[in-house]
Amino acid sequence: MARLLPATPDAIAGAARIIRDGGLVAFPTETVYGLGANALDAGAVARIFAAKGRPASNPLIVHVASPEEIDALAYVGAQHAAPLQAVTDAFWPGPLTLVLPRKPVVPDTVTAGGPTVAVRMPRHSVALALIRAAGVPLAAPSANRSEQLSPTRAEHVAQGLGDAVDLILDGGPTDVGLESTVLDLTEWPPRLLRPGMVTAAEIESVLGVPISAHPAPNSGGSEPARSPGRMPRHYAPRTRLRVVTDVWAEATCAAAPVAVLAHTSPPADLPPHVQATILPAEPRAYAAHLYEALHQLDRLAVSLILVQAVPETDDWLAVRDRLGRAGA
Ligand code: TXA
Ligand code: MG
Repeated sequence: MARLLPATPDAIAGAARIIRDGGLVAFPTETVYGLGANALDAGAVARIFAAKGRPASNPLIVHVASPEEIDALAYVGAQHAAPLQAVTDAFWPGPLTLVLPRKPVVPDTVTAGGPTVAVRMPRHSVALALIRAAGVPLAAPSANRSEQLSPTRAEHVAQGLGDAVDLILDGGPTDVGLESTVLDLTEWPPRLLRPGMVTAAEIESVLGVPISAHPAPNSGGSEPARSPGRMPRHYAPRTRLRVVTDVWAEATCAAAPVAVLAHTSPPADLPPHVQATILPAEPRAYAAHLYEALHQLDRLAVSLILVQAVPETDDWLAVRDRLGRAGA
């Protein structure tokens, strides 16, 4: 098993040395745990792809500790400067990733050979301290094997990645619980590539232009992949998962033991073969606990997880997106 240490100042200093030596460190952010390497070291970044089993075609987010660090990584042309300033002022540090034209210093392994780089400043004291101590930006995907559930606790990382990571910094459970919103600033108006807890409506109110709330299709269409990681199946537990509207009726009719993830109370006469987990009926609180609950349900000896469909409103978009992929 990988070394797992509480994120004390000493452990962070040790982690920074590992990063500078080309190693991999898992660390907490406010969204999910990341699997970090020196973003400017192509060899270190290649180890991330090997550890995750991630296709080389899926680019990584580069994590910085201040908005000023963007300049070293991306071209901020006259047309980008004002909107970039507005969104970083409003949402950084926080769960918003920005896609910009890349500079050559960013290795091709990070950008998957593409012309853009994704940058984000996390809102977590351990993540910020690690980036500052390492003195380099950190390329970091979620610290899970490709296509599996993102980790919201250090233990999830240890279970999923084991020895593939040199050190895991334990900062407790993450508070946002879903991956960051990804916004493409290389086109105007900007396009939402991945919904998250920074919503299109919030970005619109800052930029004063309509943001398309629906990511461009990645497969099946003639349009090339815009956010190559947006595979239909992603963020999935190992157990089969279905999203259904009438969850209590379906669970009651099931022939074998079944797990239910719901946000409304169960009926009083729920049969014993149904194991129910109830999450808050409010999108932020639901998101904060979703992956934790799925990690737990995945460990039960059931062959099916039934998830109660969430409301079709915009504030539930990021949750609906992840549930749709988990069930694909
Ligand atoms: O909250 C988060 O964003 C977490 C924490 C660790 O920061 N990271 C995360 O990374 O979710 P990952 O690799 O699991 O997801 C990154 C997403 C993928 O969908 C990827 O395709 C997209 O961002 N992405 C990265 N670079 C991109 C680029 N240059 N253009 C478009 N999409 C990009
Ligand atoms: Mg991921």
